[in-house]
Order: sequence, then structure tokens, then C-alpha cells
Amino acid sequence: MTYNAPQRRPGYPIPQPSNKTRKTMKRNGLIVTAVAIVICVLLIIFFQLHHKNTPAATAQAKAKSNQAGQQTGRQPATTAPAGFDKNKYSTADKASLWVVVNKQHPLNPKTYAPDNLVVPNIPMRSNITSTEKYVRSDMGAALETMVKAAADAGIHLNLQSGYRSYSFQVTLYDGYVKQQGQTAADRQSARPGYSEHQTGLAADLGGTSLPSCNVADCFGATVEGKWLAANAYAYGFIIRYTTDKEATTGYEHEPWHIRYIGTELSTEMHAQGVETLEEFFGITGGTAY
Ligand code: DAL
Ligand code: ZN
Repeated sequence: MTYNAPQRRPGYPIPQPSNKTRKTMKRNGLIVTAVAIVICVLLIIFFQLHHKNTPAATAQAKAKSNQAGQQTGRQPATTAPAGFDKNKYSTADKASLWVVVNKQHPLNPKTYAPDNLVVPNIPMRSNITSTEKYVRSDMGAALETMVKAAADAGIHLNLQSGYRSYSFQVTLYDGYVKQQGQTAADRQSARPGYSEHQTGLAADLGGTSLPSCNVADCFGATVEGKWLAANAYAYGFIIRYTTDKEATTGYEHEPWHIRYIGTELSTEMHAQGVETLEEFFGITGGTAY
């Protein structure tokens, strides 16, 4: 038996889809295409992410970066070190902003004198010596800014003692020893070659509110002493010899003695709540020479 396909009657037009059917087909086609595109995009993203994280891909990327560095003569970019860079400046070099000077770490040589001293434009005690008027130039600018800011807030600071030469410290220390004996002198005054004042980066500040407290314990309780304790760090200074840190710094509390270290370090120490340079840098100190 043969199968005869049904013949269309001659002249009978091939049935065409209605307009409605055509619209539905078109819409379905668009939806299928859109879904296909979305799937393709998702697959591409997935494979790219997966490939990027494989060890081989990481090595490839590194090699490519190194090659680019060689071609441009530059070192490939390395990841920035996390945290504060404690090695940015020397703590041993006598001229460094971060030099740590204490009973274990004298200046080298002990007779060192900085070559960039200036007289800052700030009020000074009336009988200040011609030597003590000076500070190192970088500190001088910061000191002027801080003293002006304090004055704007109604706090009047003045310079009691800035730079002290080796020979000046000889006279000063010997005077303390004669008056109080060596044990007491060593708690308050550095021996020559061991004083921060000799770097030009330290200063003793006083105030006008209670002159009898200048360079005395009670300075810490004056408005000037309180302002310094709260604000010095913002100008690049620390109170170098704080309460209860004699075993670390080697000296009794001196609320008037400020040390310039720059705002980068002073703000970091403040943020970390670390008071002494010895603790921050892990450097030996203490009361023994
Ligand atoms: N009074 C401080 C410790 C000095 O003499 O440098
Ligand atoms: Zn001092």
C-alpha cells in the first residue's frame, strides 16, 4: 500500500499564521534570545572569575606585571605596607627627626651640635640665655604654629629653654649635682652628651598663668600644662617625660619638656596611646647609664 501525501488542492493558498499568532511567536523569540544572552554573560563572568583565582592565573599575572616593569624600567608595583612605617627615619642618627636619646643612647659624638638652629618668633622668659633661645629650624616653625594656636585659645606659652650645647649641659648638670647630689640630679638632668636639648629638638615651655610653676611639677596642673598635654601631639610634639614612665625614659615627670618628632609620628603615638619613644620603637632606656 502506497502512502499518498495529501495534496493541497491546486490554487489553495498555503495557510499563513494569523497576526496574533505572528506577534506571539515574535515575542517568544525575543524572550528566548534575551535568556540566552543572559546565560552566556553569566557563564563568561563565572569562568573569568574562576580562572583569575587559580594559582596559574596569579603567576601569569605576576609574570606579565614583572615584564611590564622591566620594559618600562620601573619596579612592579608592590602592595603598600600595612600600618605605620617605623623605619622611615633613623632612631640612631643624631640629626634624625626620630633620634632617641636617653641614658642608654647618648649622642654620637657626645659633643654634637646641629647646624640648622634658629630663634623662633615666640615669647621667651625674660632672662633666657643666648644659647637656649635656639631650636632646630624644623622644630622652630612647628613651635611658632603651636604657640600661636594656643594664644588664639587664650593660652600663653613661652620658651624657658631650647637648644643646649654640650658645654652648657656640663654647667647645668654639675650645678644640679652640687645642689642635690648625683642620684637626685640624674633623675632630673641629663649628663652632657645625653640630653635631647642638645639635638635642638627639645624645649622647656612655661606659661603666664602661674609663673612660679614654670619648670616645676605643678606646671602640669596649670592651664598651659593641661593645654600642652592635650594638644601638643597635633603640632608634632610629645611630652617626653610623662608620669610613671621614669623606669622607661630615665627621668621624673617633666610636663614642660616637649620633644619635636613631626606630626606623622606624634599622631600615630597618640592614636596608639603610646607615650614614650622607647616603647613605640622598642628601644632600651631606663634609669641606668
Ligand atoms: N631635663 C632633661 C632630662 C634634660 O636635662 O635633658
Ligand atoms: Zn627639658
